[in-house]
Amino acid sequence: MENLTLSTSVPRPSTAYLDHNWAGGHQSLTEEYDYWIDEIEGEIPQELKGTVFRNGPGLLDVGGTPLYHPFDGDGMICALTFDQGKAHFRNRFVKTAGYLAEQAAGKNSVSGGCLGLLSRGGWLANAFDINFKNIANTHVIYWAGKLLALWEADQPYRLDPATLETLGLEDFSGLLKPGDPFSAHPRILKGATAAEDRLVTFSVKPGLSSVVKVYEFDTQANLVHQDQFSMPGFAFIHDFAVTPHYYIFFQNPVTLNPLPFVLGFKGAGECITFKKGQPTQIWLLPRNGSGHLIKAATEACFVFHHANAYEQDDQVIIDSICYDSFPKLDPQVDFRDINFDTVPPAQLWRFRLSLTSFQVERQPLVTRSCEFPALDPRQVSQPYRFVYLGAADAATGNAPLQALLKVDLQTGAEELWSAAPQGFMGEPVFIPHPAVAEQGWLVALVYDGDRNRSDVVILATENIKQGPIARLALKHHVPYGLHGSFTPTLF
Ligand code: CO
Repeated sequence: MENLTLSTSVPRPSTAYLDHNWAGGHQSLTEEYDYWIDEIEGEIPQELKGTVFRNGPGLLDVGGTPLYHPFDGDGMICALTFDQGKAHFRNRFVKTAGYLAEQAAGKNSVSGGCLGLLSRGGWLANAFDINFKNIANTHVIYWAGKLLALWEADQPYRLDPATLETLGLEDFSGLLKPGDPFSAHPRILKGATAAEDRLVTFSVKPGLSSVVKVYEFDTQANLVHQDQFSMPGFAFIHDFAVTPHYYIFFQNPVTLNPLPFVLGFKGAGECITFKKGQPTQIWLLPRNGSGHLIKAATEACFVFHHANAYEQDDQVIIDSICYDSFPKLDPQVDFRDINFDTVPPAQLWRFRLSLTSFQVERQPLVTRSCEFPALDPRQVSQPYRFVYLGAADAATGNAPLQALLKVDLQTGAEELWSAAPQGFMGEPVFIPHPAVAEQGWLVALVYDGDRNRSDVVILATENIKQGPIARLALKHHVPYGLHGSFTPTLF
């Protein structure tokens, strides 16, 4: 009988990706395009009407000098308009002050050195009054007639939704001052009527004590509620969750030594240390303005994104993507050559916070490596049944996102469609079916490493495993992106 031993290196399954295919999605896209997509496999549903906007780093080098982290690239907006079974593509860079200056100079304004994750560290630079560049690359939303490119450390940039031309910084009628942070992860809460919908968002100014502000805007972009509180210690908070009665923040157990950053030796991300022995703090701020903070704690984990949260009996349920520790990249290694085995995988977990005992119980919902959770926007802050995620092709280990995963949170059933080996999955954007609750379509960009081009895939949410009902071939690649959103308005 063979002697069984555990191997420290798990061989990749035969269906897995090739490194050079993965690296291909990190090339800059310098051109700006505007065209009707004419290579379409399958059919775009007639009911699918509106515009998907999507943001992400468009330039991974400036004048040939590569960036140190892909999240540092200048924001580029893609707009996909669907109407009468046809689709139009357009992309434009956010013409931030920094982008224009660097393009004119032909070089990166961040000078050399070992820069690491989130090297531009706007939030950190901001805390120390260091000049930083607003890269406007994380998310894009259309709200109250404004198309906003979001980046958490600074004011949003406003663009023309029809042409994607950059119009300038948005200050919400004087609410935001120059350099004020503004989260890239707002939540839209559905009201009883469309006019009662709310854009709920926040900002964090980290420091020795971190100041968290929350804002609610009505459909005319009027500020209808604001509040703030301080949490002791440094706070790295990228996303939050909202329920009918609470704003929810996870304070990851990290500490910061800003000195090497301030002195210019290190990137902001490199100055962060994950404290494994310390809990992740969960803060609930009531939406009624009472200021009665609730604080609870759970085992150490690092969270960038929450899928959703809601209230049930005396509990607040929060579903979040958790990393075992802060996913730091090795600053000595080019991010295109990242070894996924050295980075902790992300998994979907459920947290149940009791509003009577303030104890938290947690359980894993999805153990496959996953990120970019999406759900029917009509279910935000409400009990919901289905969540959709970008996921790894393999059920275990860490790997790039290559698949779309649907999870039935009632039964635990999973449905997967994978674009492996040559396809790499972006964030799925949920487009609600106009007439059917909890149904719609997922639209995602898939980078095809063999063809060095990207496809737009459309999947029907009620049947993920059958694969795309339509696959739209773009004439070029689109670099791996971050977040996007849908509006039924046609542009
Ligand atoms: Co994000």
